[in-house]
Amino acid sequence: MRDKYALTRRSASRLLPLVAPPVAAAAKEGVVPASFLEQDRAYFQAYSHVGIHEEMIKDRARTDAYRDAIMFHADFIRDKVVMDVGCGTGILSIFCAFAGARKVYAVDASDIAVQAKEVVKANRLSDVITVLHGRVEDLNINEKVDVIVSEWMGYMLLYESMLGSVIYARDRWLKTGGLMLPSFATLYMAPVTNAEKYSECIDFWRSVYGIDMSAMLPLAKQHSFEEPCIENIAAESVLSWPIVIKQINCKTITIAELESVKADFSVSSIMTAPLHGFALWFDVSFGTRVTQQTDLQSETSLGRSLAVDHDGVEICRSKKRAKPSDCIVLSTAPDSTPTHWAQTLLYVYDPIEVKQDQEISGSIELSQSKENPRFMNIFLKYRSGTRECVKESVMR
Ligand SMILES: C[S@@+](CC[C@H](N)C(=O)[O-])C[C@H]1O[C@@H](n2cnc3c(N)ncnc32)[C@H](O)[C@@H]1O
Repeated sequence: MRDKYALTRRSASRLLPLVAPPVAAAAKEGVVPASFLEQDRAYFQAYSHVGIHEEMIKDRARTDAYRDAIMFHADFIRDKVVMDVGCGTGILSIFCAFAGARKVYAVDASDIAVQAKEVVKANRLSDVITVLHGRVEDLNINEKVDVIVSEWMGYMLLYESMLGSVIYARDRWLKTGGLMLPSFATLYMAPVTNAEKYSECIDFWRSVYGIDMSAMLPLAKQHSFEEPCIENIAAESVLSWPIVIKQINCKTITIAELESVKADFSVSSIMTAPLHGFALWFDVSFGTRVTQQTDLQSETSLGRSLAVDHDGVEICRSKKRAKPSDCIVLSTAPDSTPTHWAQTLLYVYDPIEVKQDQEISGSIELSQSKENPRFMNIFLKYRSGTRECVKESVMR
């Protein structure tokens, strides 16, 4: 489990501003000054901390997937114009320069952009990469781009709501026929059992030094399970095949579609075990290669499958790249290499005993919070056997 006091991507949406925001800095070349929303001030300020970038860059599964995807598309990127939405330290922009980009606009509203500029200079890439310090929404450039690269994914894919900014950039600057990296994203959910967690946080109170402390149970449940938890859950704890909550084609998704995402589900448990909650995770893929069903038949990944998006484009969703010609997939599934996103766990207050093949059904709705659009309201209804429950939570 992650250190709850460490500066993580979740804190990017949670932190309150501690010092003056970078509004003055936003008035640099190519960016018109803007007044940030109070929540955005806090958000961008959190991204000015080195620790958050260290965590992301050290996540090899993440950073290698982006590097591989950029290099895989080198033929497309060579001599072209790229925009890196949310460049952070500039790492993805530099990969694009290595792939032969003629020009890269590296945009970030956080003060980390100041460092990105230095990193670019130290690598003698200032003639290719222009770092622009400001929100992509306030950017003022007068050429269209061939490629948009961005690492926008939050916990359970949609937390942080950064995809809206990428969509804005796409609609304003991406040329027709341009490339989005990543190209597709899928959010999954599955019921899970986790007796260890339950006994550690809840059952512990039943007998403490021989004292009956069951009176603590309601408070312990509220404290431990009210909000989603970011944890790596063992693949063996997953009780069914994953449910697809949302498929996103980065070329066509609209901001309105992201305001609320809803899915009904009905799965059967693959074993007899207590249902302790639901895990959410995602994968993203880079490119539109059509994968043959037979390529994937022998795989066992929890995330693997072949899907057809709304435009009829086949989405390759295998865990890894099976052959060099396959598309590259970054998966945060429980059976994939752990990433800093881990999985997002929605624990239920009272476990339900389920038998093998017993149906678990319900619905889930994720919607942007009115309080802060970077927060996520989660409305989960689930039933199994004779039990039917509702759990509402907010991921702050
Ligand atoms: C998840 S980090 C990725 C950083 C870097 N691309 C990497 O892969 O290491 C996202 C970055 O996007 C920036 N960002 C988010 N929304 C933005 C917006 N609307 N305009 C400019 N930058 C934004 C944040 O400040 C943060 O540095």
